[in-house]
Amino acid sequence: MQPQVLTRDDEERRAAFAADIAEALCRRPRQIPSEYLYDELGSALFEAICRLPWYRITRAELSLLARHARDIFRPLVRPVSVAELGCGSGEKLAVLVSAAGERFHQVQLVDISPAALDMARYRLQAIGIRGIVAHHATYEQGLIRAAQQRPRQGSLVVLFLGSNIGNFAPPVARDLLAHIRRSLRPGDALLLGTDLVKPERELLLAYDDPLDVTAAFNRNLLRRINDELGGNFDLESFTHRATWNAAARRVEVHLVSARAQRVTIPAAQLDLDLGKGESIWTESSHKYEPGQVLEQGLAAGFSGGEQWIDQDAKFALTRFTAGGP
Ligand code: TRP
Repeated sequence: MQPQVLTRDDEERRAAFAADIAEALCRRPRQIPSEYLYDELGSALFEAICRLPWYRITRAELSLLARHARDIFRPLVRPVSVAELGCGSGEKLAVLVSAAGERFHQVQLVDISPAALDMARYRLQAIGIRGIVAHHATYEQGLIRAAQQRPRQGSLVVLFLGSNIGNFAPPVARDLLAHIRRSLRPGDALLLGTDLVKPERELLLAYDDPLDVTAAFNRNLLRRINDELGGNFDLESFTHRATWNAAARRVEVHLVSARAQRVTIPAAQLDLDLGKGESIWTESSHKYEPGQVLEQGLAAGFSGGEQWIDQDAKFALTRFTAGGP
């Protein structure tokens, strides 16, 4: 193996990773925070998920963005700047910018994956976009930096797409929306992508696909803990499982231990005894009814909501506007 050169930033990130893992794995039920899914390999696997026939979120959202770009930006004061929370590869932003047919004053990118940020910046520069600012940050940190670095003139549209809001429990989601609202000025907007409730069979195929790409994406969390924190997870003894929790309206994603086993994670000072069938909860994906999305935005302090819905894939784009003080 190559000797690794770690900067202080890397060291701090690794310590935070170890502390988060230790805390979440000791909870009942055991958990791993889903933000750690997106390292370089995880981001590449997620790009593959977005192309699976069973995972329709990305395609549905791309086609809504392409079709309604002009309507989405119509009421905004020019010049318009955009900031995307969790930009991933930048594909959606590139489609939106091209379809909107106008020049954005500034484009800010926020993501926790440096690989995704590089990809997004490269993609946007390749289609002639200038004024790109990239933030390697969580949603909250990124939001603060985006508000600080926005241009003085014109309006700002925050993009929160991919139904990433669904990865938070509804009260937490509302707090995050309220946080977004507070960092905006009157006349700004939020464009929110949310996946809608649909038949269970379709939901389960989207989160447990027959090619096992989603299983690989999920198990990559354990691989990452092994590589970065010295863990000894035996990847093959964990099964990927997705279940629909109808009462909570969410898909739950787990890694299930196929046998009783002890796992050691030295950097987190953790010895873990897992029973046969015991699961580690790695992600939740909440699904909404269109009206609930509007209610969430209004409860978070936005004033108006306009919605564009893909009735076939059952996916909604909602533009919320920030009203006066
Ligand atoms: N935000 C995505 C979603 O909820 C993330 C995602 C898709 C995901 N498939 C997954 C997370 C499988 C964990 C496991 O749709």
